[in-house]
Amino acid sequence: MSDNVYILAIESSCDDTSAAVICNEQILSNIVANQDIHAQYGGVVPELASRAHQQNIVPVVAAALKKANISKEQLHAIAFTQGPGLMGSLLVGASFAKSMALGLNIPLLAINHMQAHILAHFIDDANDKKPTFPFICLTISGGHTQIIKISDYFTMEVLGETIDDAVGEAYDKTAKILGLPYPGGPLIDKYAQLGKPVFKFTKPKVKEHHFSFSGLKTGILYFIQKQTKLNSNFVKEHLHDICASVQNTIAEILMDKLKKAVASTDIKQVAIAGGVSANSEIRNRLLQAQKHFGWTCYIPKFEYTTDNAAMIAITAYQKYKLGNYSSQAVTANSRLKVDA
Ligand code: KG4
Ligand code: ZN
Repeated sequence: MSDNVYILAIESSCDDTSAAVICNEQILSNIVANQDIHAQYGGVVPELASRAHQQNIVPVVAAALKKANISKEQLHAIAFTQGPGLMGSLLVGASFAKSMALGLNIPLLAINHMQAHILAHFIDDANDKKPTFPFICLTISGGHTQIIKISDYFTMEVLGETIDDAVGEAYDKTAKILGLPYPGGPLIDKYAQLGKPVFKFTKPKVKEHHFSFSGLKTGILYFIQKQTKLNSNFVKEHLHDICASVQNTIAEILMDKLKKAVASTDIKQVAIAGGVSANSEIRNRLLQAQKHFGWTCYIPKFEYTTDNAAMIAITAYQKYKLGNYSSQAVTANSRLKVDA
């Protein structure tokens, strides 16, 4: 009998329905169905997200199994995102996974979405090298901004986090101020690369390893309002420079805190994770830090940055090896913490 372990993983925490099949640490398929419906509302509408998950989940799981070229009878376990996330969205994935595990009479694995963003680095093709413990991870997404110390797969300590908005929210809210569609992060990144950081924004003063982004958002709003009063075409005429300036400020805030975390822990292995880790400026600065400060940096492949089921699958594989299965009584937890 082969030692290969096949796991189907489902991710439905926010507005992407995703299913992946993993064989040990190798991803065989990773299907993501985005929900375009939210763009017209300028943000995710929870009620619409859960309805779309309900429609997408069966075809997305079928596509993941087909692409992996395996039958459901070959699966050893079913994994799902337990939280954090939107309750209605999480419940769709949780109910589906529980029913499927029950029907196939195989183990069920409840996975922490924030741990999964970090553990995505252990997917076989995520990086040219895998992190070794301990390492530090800057997790930056639409809902989170955290610096975590990872001592083992499931031993994680929050060194610092945002006291208000997440960095992805800062990107998305800035995009809204500039009249760009949701999600704004990728667009600001794209325009920033065409401009110069000529405008200055005040950086927050937050103690220790914590972050704050709500003041920056207000600063950007006031700046745009003031300039638009003087020139109604200001945003149109200076869009690239505005984006470059915002991006530069955000990257500086993140790098300042990362440097502090490295200095205080003396851990020079640094990873980034989460949707905002797709950002070009943050990636570049990390590569520079690797060169100048002797850090070893782990930058994930794009497909493993924004929400995806592959990261749930690799986390599930580690849990499976520990025999850490969930019972059918497990429930979705919209506020699950990374160090739970
Ligand atoms: O991890 P993720 O897919 O979902 C959450 O768990 O929140 O992150 C989504 C966030 C959004 O705020 C989106 O604007 C941002 O990631 N994002 C980016 C980039 N790509 C996605 N922000 C800046 N630059 C990017 N290239
Ligand atoms: Zn996420």
